[in-house]
Amino acid sequence: MIELAPSILSADFAHLADHVKRATEGGATVVHVDIMDGHFVPNLTIGPPVVRSLRKATNLPLDCHLMIENPDDFIPAFVEAGANWISVHQEVCRHLDRTLHLIREHGALAGVVINPATPVEMLSEVLDLVDYVLVMSVNPGFGGQKFLPNSLHKMRRLAEIRTRRGLNFRIEVDGGVALDTVAEVVRAGAEILVAGNAVFGSGDPKTNAERLLKAAVEATLQRV
Ligand code: DX5
Ligand code: ZN
Repeated sequence: MIELAPSILSADFAHLADHVKRATEGGATVVHVDIMDGHFVPNLTIGPPVVRSLRKATNLPLDCHLMIENPDDFIPAFVEAGANWISVHQEVCRHLDRTLHLIREHGALAGVVINPATPVEMLSEVLDLVDYVLVMSVNPGFGGQKFLPNSLHKMRRLAEIRTRRGLNFRIEVDGGVALDTVAEVVRAGAEILVAGNAVFGSGDPKTNAERLLKAAVEATLQRV
């Protein structure tokens, strides 16, 4: 099943509840929340207080993408604030197994993220521990960047490994997903589509979400 997870990074933070509501009316079923610390990535965003406010504004699951160093220090606070899904970057976790267990022990779905330069093989020992794998299709830090096509073979590879090993994780993609790229990510195996600029960049988030989902669902018919 294809799900659209609009990234609020490109929304108007002064009208966050309204923007999320419009995207939901357009078919979004997950809200993607980008947490940046100015160390792991060269940008700063939000922390648990905004997650807590969002929790009151929507019933959709909050998918918190942690682009922060020392994520273990903050996982309890994000869950307490209302995060339902938490993903951490393979590149910052010295004890990835421990961190993924920590997320699960707190009752959230656990995801692992890989940057464009990180091979899928780095995840081989944790694929049975995660609920989802997030493949970055831009270098993390900013919305509105150009899609990097090397992410496609990683999604295909993850889908192959999942079948071969009989695993259940879902495949999420993040970065540069828009009307001109959505079909290829879906054909490559992406099931949860993060989109910031394409939903909130300009125009009505409801119409934007509807168009993107329609293109995604059409592409599932062309999966090989
Ligand atoms: C980038 C973030 C993304 C970002 C995607 O570091 O993780 O979630 O908001 O934005 P778009 O869809 O505009 O590339
Ligand atoms: Zn993200």
